[in-house]
Amino acid sequence: MTSPSQDGRNLAPRAVCDSQSQMTEVILPNDANPLGNLLGGRLMHLIDLAGAMAAHRHSHSHVVTASMDHIDFLQPVHIGDLLILKSSVNRAFRSSMEVGVKCWVENYIAGTTCHVASAYLTFVAIDETGQHHPVPCVVPETEDEKRRYEDASRRREARKQEQERRKAQIR
Ligand SMILES: CC(C)(COP(=O)(O)OP(=O)(O)OC[C@H]1O[C@@H](n2cnc3c(N)ncnc32)[C@H](O)[C@@H]1OP(=O)(O)O)[C@@H](O)C(=O)NCCC(=O)NCCS
Repeated sequence: MTSPSQDGRNLAPRAVCDSQSQMTEVILPNDANPLGNLLGGRLMHLIDLAGAMAAHRHSHSHVVTASMDHIDFLQPVHIGDLLILKSSVNRAFRSSMEVGVKCWVENYIAGTTCHVASAYLTFVAIDETGQHHPVPCVVPETEDEKRRYEDASRRREARKQEQERRKAQIR
């Protein structure tokens, strides 16, 4: 049994499937450039929202985006396309969570889907006063979840090293 944290939060470990989230968006002219392709910044906004959903559900808390890792736009997305974004919490640390978001475009005429982008984001759980606080651990169950859980630690170390390197460059 996990005891509640000092502020009474329930820190019992949670399964990945408990917070997995999905968003579907129809791409409209307002989301696109003059050639009718989805704007990269708009896709990043949707990725941020989809990622936050999983982080909110896992932590039962307000969250802020601390970082978004490298993102490649693999295929153009067009006006009228159905964009599907799936998010899951790969691992929780103390107050932060790594969330993976994968995006597909669905061609509902042909019945096919195509992977268009993926990103890892780190969200930090905060209270109403903006203080960060501990979050429950993640329990990976499937083989894929276990792999992502292990990889998340390596990515966190890489992020920290990169942050240190950038700080040293600024000094
Ligand atoms: C993210 C933020 C809460 C970190 O606060 P901080 O006081 O610098 O935090 P700390 O150094 O004590 O780190 C707190 C946690 O955040 C993580 N973190 C901090 N900066 C990070 C970054 N750039 N990338 C990934 N994780 C980060 C730390 O690893 C730590 O995680 P842990 O508790 O699981 O070990 C703070 O910088 C912030 O509020 N940023 C603005 C967030 C925001 O407004 N986002 C929307 C975009 S404008």
